Amino acid sequence: MADLTSYNSITVTPLSAALGAEVKGLDLSRPIDETIYRQIKDALLKHLILLFRDQDITPDQHIAFSRWFGALEEHVVNQFLLPGHPEIFVVSNVKEKGRHIGAYGSALLFHSDISYMAKPSMGSLFLCRECPAVGGETEFANMYAAYDALPDQRRTWLDQQRGVHDYVYHYEVYERHREPLSDEQKAMLTPAVHPAIRTHPESGRKAIFLSESLTSHLAGMDIAEGRRIIKEVTEFAAQPQFVYRHHWRAGDLVFWDNRCTMHRVLPWDDQYRRLMHRTTIKGDKPFL
Ligand code: OGA
Ligand code: MN
Repeated sequence: MADLTSYNSITVTPLSAALGAEVKGLDLSRPIDETIYRQIKDALLKHLILLFRDQDITPDQHIAFSRWFGALEEHVVNQFLLPGHPEIFVVSNVKEKGRHIGAYGSALLFHSDISYMAKPSMGSLFLCRECPAVGGETEFANMYAAYDALPDQRRTWLDQQRGVHDYVYHYEVYERHREPLSDEQKAMLTPAVHPAIRTHPESGRKAIFLSESLTSHLAGMDIAEGRRIIKEVTEFAAQPQFVYRHHWRAGDLVFWDNRCTMHRVLPWDDQYRRLMHRTTIKGDKPFL
């Protein structure tokens, strides 16, 4: 495995050859400072996802840490926002008083968070509060590496394409088990058209920006043919050499860069509780 980088007070150790690093030496229940912020930001740019283990933090502390990296989104699916903390989106199979408290049964296909917005998210900070012993792992794919490895012809062709990211489509196909979107929610969800390949605004590198579940088709192209290509490209990116699989422990916080990674959850036995809290940092309009 690659180098271990020592900063003044934190260490950053790679998690896999594909992407990811663990950051040690931080207790996020205490405020960070500008120096630590810079180090984390640099590490994120280099490793694409960062793991902070054993974080016993409150929703307010989760939010305060997240805010260092930008303003936070409030998810359109507002029935799953944490009561009193609308900056936190609850992802869970847990039911209380007969009602689901979080988004459930989702994210089984690779995606980048809220790619269906005109300005998709820069990054998400996902905190595990409870998880099953097996199953429910999250996989992260390095979309720079997948882009670089595409066959030349496919890569240069994709450079010219645009994806249509459509949450209403997504909901109708992949979230049929959930309460349908309301008319108010649908009104906020006009499809967004983004380049199929985006340039990361900080690294300057190109990454694939398509998702089988959120990109309904390619702009200006036969719908079925566009879907076939999106599936082909996302399956290409899902190959093990581009992927890190994270086995969760309660207290794990994973910070991922939505501009150059995609993620998906693996299934688990639904009798086991899984309770995760996500903050979602606002981002910029993708460009090639
Ligand atoms: C998410 C997501 C995957 C998971 O909350 O953005 O995709 O592991 N979650 O639950
Ligand atoms: Mn997600």
